[in-house]
Amino acid sequence: MGQPTPAQKDSDWWRSAVIYQVYVRSFADGDGDGTGDLAGVRGNLPYLAELGVDAMWFTPWYLSPLKDGGYDVADYRTIDPAFGTLAEAEKLIAEARELGIRTIVDIVPNHVSDQHPWFRSALAAGPGSPERELFHFRPGRGPHGDLPPNDWPSQFAGSTEPVWTRLPDGDWYLHLFTPEQPDLNWAHPVVRQEHEDILRFWFERGVAGVRIDSAALLAKDPDLPDLATDPRPHPFVDRDELHDVYRSWRRVADEYDGVFVGEVWLPDAERFARYLRPDELHTAFNFSFLTCPWDAGRLRDSIDTTLAEHAPVGAPATWVLCNHDVTRTVTRYGREDTAFDFATKAFGTPTDLALGTRRARAAALLSLALPGALYLYQGEELGLPEADIPVDRIQDPMYFRSQGADPGRDGCRVPLPWAAGAPYAGFGAREEPWLPQPADWPSYAVDRQKQDPHSMLSLYREAIALRPEFGNGPLTWLPAPDGVLAFARADGALCVVNLAATPAVLPAHSRLLLSSGPLDDAGRLPEDTAAWLRP
Ligand code: GLC
Repeated sequence: MGQPTPAQKDSDWWRSAVIYQVYVRSFADGDGDGTGDLAGVRGNLPYLAELGVDAMWFTPWYLSPLKDGGYDVADYRTIDPAFGTLAEAEKLIAEARELGIRTIVDIVPNHVSDQHPWFRSALAAGPGSPERELFHFRPGRGPHGDLPPNDWPSQFAGSTEPVWTRLPDGDWYLHLFTPEQPDLNWAHPVVRQEHEDILRFWFERGVAGVRIDSAALLAKDPDLPDLATDPRPHPFVDRDELHDVYRSWRRVADEYDGVFVGEVWLPDAERFARYLRPDELHTAFNFSFLTCPWDAGRLRDSIDTTLAEHAPVGAPATWVLCNHDVTRTVTRYGREDTAFDFATKAFGTPTDLALGTRRARAAALLSLALPGALYLYQGEELGLPEADIPVDRIQDPMYFRSQGADPGRDGCRVPLPWAAGAPYAGFGAREEPWLPQPADWPSYAVDRQKQDPHSMLSLYREAIALRPEFGNGPLTWLPAPDGVLAFARADGALCVVNLAATPAVLPAHSRLLLSSGPLDDAGRLPEDTAAWLRP
């Protein structure tokens, strides 16, 4: 038996929370204009409470021209009028808390919108001005300065577009993403001060945590050199000086008992874990699990590596199967290649949704049984597939910046179906929603799934309710045949997932708590099925 686990303190909620990602624009439309909003979220808080989630993470809800779905922020202290008002956000935070749901906001420190007052002033002030020092403005290369200052690649996978844009006054400015998202200069004290003020602003309004967008990209080599062949130190990824930034953020968060989750895409486990040292970020997204193919060996490796890299710094792992940037889980798992990779995204990749859904159900039970926090992206609990968006309706810059090669991320951002019989599947819109819903969207509607004990929604509800059976103890692998994952949590339940074609005999147990699909007549676990057992 493992060590008895001490009861978790309330302030440690984030160590094992189920966190629901709300993409406001597509969650629910309260005012009927075709765009989701805070009123839509407030109206559906009981739904989230019944689902049993501990917290919500809101993708950016601030004033924004929406050139990158809100990750282009014009004012961090104002809610975009398309979504509501600051007063409404404050109400939402308080109402959710009453229902036991905490709120996490998304801070985008790497860049701002080109409509942000700082960037507008920098443009007006001209070359060499102090206003331009808040960003990365440089003269161009070549005799006429018409070549970009360096060779850095765009951070939108597949993008063939440069990361520099030239202004009529001759200066170039850096934007790792779109030209409407100029990068801030994190060596400037005003940039640092402003972000600490923004953190306080939201903590003062009762938010429990902050997700940090593109968290490993902020710091740049001041010389902005070309990409060297030697990858370390990289001129803009994972630079050492970033840790000092997060240490001072941590001091701010600690004043409010606030927590951080960083968006840290780094292949190097040791470098990744540095962000999770006790005086830095509390958690970071685990993208190794999200990108992992549906393969027992690979999943087990990903779980082991994740747990091993978190252990020395004492941080809990996070488990994510999808988010607003990647292909929906049921679609990905139904494909021949079940891994996620930005580089291989293409239009028209065939998928078997019945197979993908079976696997996604098993994956839900797998990820909810692991030690740490779980992130659930809106619509994942409904088993929504990736939608095909007609090209003339695509809004995502990833599509445009890849010259149409990458389908973009709109397919996972389609407005949610709430009621099968209502217009626009009950999203709330009186007019065409901002992204079109596929014809079969009503079949995934919440009201339908609530009636069906075998629906994805019913599975998620039951699983989240039963999750405490696993406790907070560590994981131990149990002997299992090839293709089967089986583990026990100390003083807690067992989880078995069969990814092999042969039905698996379940280990000894006193009770079957839940399974992602029926067992066979001999009580064995069929292929692509998971079960939770009480020992
Ligand atoms: C993050 C966000 C993504 C956005 C990018 C630029 O990766 O998740 O949606 O496009 O940052 O802000």
